[in-house]
Amino acid sequence: MGVFTSDTGHEQVVFCQDKQSGLRAIIAIYSTALGPALGGTRFFPYQTEEEALHDVLELSRGMAYKNALAGLDLGGGKAVIWGDPERDKSESMLRAYGRFVASLGGRYYTACDVGTYVGDMDIVARETRYVTGRSVEHGGAGDSSILTALGVFQGMRAAAAHRWGNPSLAGRTVGISGLGKVGRHLAAHLIEEGATVLATDVSDRARDWARETFAQIKLVDTTDELIRSEIDVYAPCALGGALDDATVPELRAEIVAGAANNQLAHPGIDKLLADRGILYAPDYVVNAGGVIQVADEIEGFNFDRAKLRAMKIYDTTRQILTLADAEGVPPAVAADRLAERRMAEVGRLRTIRL
Ligand SMILES: NC(=O)c1ccc[n+]([C@@H]2O[C@H](COP(=O)([O-])OP(=O)(O)OC[C@H]3O[C@@H](n4cnc5c(N)ncnc54)[C@H](O)[C@@H]3O)[C@@H](O)[C@H]2O)c1
Repeated sequence: MGVFTSDTGHEQVVFCQDKQSGLRAIIAIYSTALGPALGGTRFFPYQTEEEALHDVLELSRGMAYKNALAGLDLGGGKAVIWGDPERDKSESMLRAYGRFVASLGGRYYTACDVGTYVGDMDIVARETRYVTGRSVEHGGAGDSSILTALGVFQGMRAAAAHRWGNPSLAGRTVGISGLGKVGRHLAAHLIEEGATVLATDVSDRARDWARETFAQIKLVDTTDELIRSEIDVYAPCALGGALDDATVPELRAEIVAGAANNQLAHPGIDKLLADRGILYAPDYVVNAGGVIQVADEIEGFNFDRAKLRAMKIYDTTRQILTLADAEGVPPAVAADRLAERRMAEVGRLRTIRL
């Protein structure tokens, strides 16, 4: 995908290089229609520069839609650092990166993503104030999985209300694939609500956590086994691409609502889900609690305010599912339409000269 040849229309793409520290980064700003672009920094050993560019263009576009539906006054952007985070990351590289973020003068705010952590953002913050996802000690929002899980839980309740006429998940069985940071908090919300939780994880550590913390969680061996089990709701909370041509026909659940990004392996999958009568709560709508949490840092972090915003994921999910029915399109298409509408309608207000 090229910057000028792609039809997605990114506003700005910046290539950043610092030979001494080995930094090779690309910052992509998809849209600032609603405000400064916010999105994390992915540190990943891409095979080629093209692959890194493709990823950052896709991810930054996704953030514009996510931030718009989260009700934030923020546009969408993302950055990638091309390298192996285990081997290549250093203080000087992160600080060099911070100076490039600073050079954009607030058009782009960064945050954590795959391969970057709160400690890294604390280092980036020594060179720029346009950074979120810092540690609590440095004025940050800390672990964003707390509100991510709360938002997924709210999105799931909204889907339950849409499908079954009642948001309560008490007595329902929810299958969680991935008991990581988000999956664990989600399991806790579900157990508190009175749901039965079936779960799986490839990591022994995660499985041990479940055995030690929540004896109520029923563990199964694999995700394949999980999706073939008698579950009412499937919550993918591990990696992307959880819903593909092989898994959807096997799925027993009536609702899919989970934290993982990019759950649909390809665009035709949402149609496949709809044809099977499975209600899909779009991933980027229900997992926006994390970006809501870190975005709050820009105003000076207030957990209660961020939590109130994350609770609104319930209303947004209901609105999208209702719109999908009304317009006869899959929920993912309805979500895109709603995001585009907000970007156009609210973004337009900037044309009123002050
Ligand atoms: N943390 C956040 O705030 C946040 C925000 C938005 C979206 N997400 C997305 O939610 C997902 C989970 O995030 P997280 O922060 O909990 O990550 P994490 O790395 O803490 O947890 C992921 C868990 O999935 C497990 N896993 C990996 N492959 C698996 C497989 N094939 N089958 C079963 N389990 C598997 C891992 O062992 C791990 O325990 C990711 O896709 C992430 O991009 C996270």
